Amino acid sequence: MIITEILKKKRDGFELSEQEINFFIQGLSNFNVSDIQSAAFLMACCTKGLSKLEVKFLTLAMRDSGKKFDFSSIKKPKVDKHSTGGVGDKISLLITPILMSFDVAVPMISGRGLGHTGGTVDKLESIVGFNMSLNYEEYLRLLNSNGVFMARQTDDIAPADKKLYHIRDVTGTVESLGLITASILSKKLVEDLDALVIDMKVGNGAFMQDFDSARQLAQSMIDVASESGLKMRVIFTSMEQPLGYKIGNWLEIEETISALSGKSPKDIEEITFKLCEGMLLSANIFENQSIAQNKIKEVWESGRAYNNFLKMIKSQGGDLDLSIEKYKNYPQFTIYCEKSGYLQHIDTLYTGIVCIMIGAGRKDINDRIDYGAGIILHKKIGDKIEKGEKLASLIAKDKSLFSQAADLLKSCIIIGDDYLEAPKLILDEWII
Ligand code: URA
Repeated sequence: MIITEILKKKRDGFELSEQEINFFIQGLSNFNVSDIQSAAFLMACCTKGLSKLEVKFLTLAMRDSGKKFDFSSIKKPKVDKHSTGGVGDKISLLITPILMSFDVAVPMISGRGLGHTGGTVDKLESIVGFNMSLNYEEYLRLLNSNGVFMARQTDDIAPADKKLYHIRDVTGTVESLGLITASILSKKLVEDLDALVIDMKVGNGAFMQDFDSARQLAQSMIDVASESGLKMRVIFTSMEQPLGYKIGNWLEIEETISALSGKSPKDIEEITFKLCEGMLLSANIFENQSIAQNKIKEVWESGRAYNNFLKMIKSQGGDLDLSIEKYKNYPQFTIYCEKSGYLQHIDTLYTGIVCIMIGAGRKDINDRIDYGAGIILHKKIGDKIEKGEKLASLIAKDKSLFSQAADLLKSCIIIGDDYLEAPKLILDEWII
């Protein structure tokens, strides 16, 4: 087989066979497929789509490009959560410390920023010393001591996804049902899970901007998960505005800390509780929603989740004091509101793009990100605002980036005369 022929076949809209997909994915691992060829493959997948069979073969080939873990020595239900990608989405950072207080194991393998969305790996790597590049012995040690680990993909874990993920990030090839399914599930199928909860983001800041495409993505993931024997629950949540008030890697760690210490924005708390509930019910820890909700609330309000967070960060080498010191004098640029009214709309996709412009995300594959960069929103949808009040602040090491970014950010936020309620957050739930 020849890679160019596979590319031409996909370009022309034909279905690839299992052998062709395996050949392509193995070529990635053997360095027989260049980044240029990968980019062409991804673009053809985006424009021509992938059939149900192609998605299954691609997911399994990507899963098998690395190792599969055996966590059978951990005698607790193993459950994980993955988001399809959002702006200000720091929920994994809040879920893991809550679940540390329950009898479950969470082997969490996360991703870097993708397209206009942020990634848990970049957020955690903003913490000085935090090590996400773990090996199997460290996974087991952390699962035994903490019940959780938060890791990034190494060359052992679905390395084909690792390569394609970086290329998708900078080639405009993220928004594909098949590619998203294969990317998420190839990682999750190596984790030896009993259950998986997907936070399916829907709205103007998500890869799936409307409910129909979100349902199709959910169905695509369910098809592959069911064939692989993975129990899955999909919770559809709104991405019509960023989650919380802070967007950017270190800024989201800051907001996580304040949320865990009793000052949580309502949206963050609502989604965190819902996803924890889904994970605990999927793992059969509680009989019903209301018991699960009460127990989660108890852990959250007692400060145990906060202490667990500190323990988790320390166990993986992170130093929060040094991090606070590192980011404390970052330059800021504040945008003030030009008219009084109500905040009615936030273009969440472009808010994510503003973050990339000021260095919080990557424009190209080898870009180094500015971990301290990001946006603080002072108001959210439904808030009343007066002329001259603070609307949003930009934070970045390089002040020269502020002016253009501020213009774009201003155009993302609409203030009008009429009050509009914030969009409903939890939209639906599918239990399979
Ligand atoms: N998260 C992933 O790991 N991959 C995607 O494609 C989207 C979100």
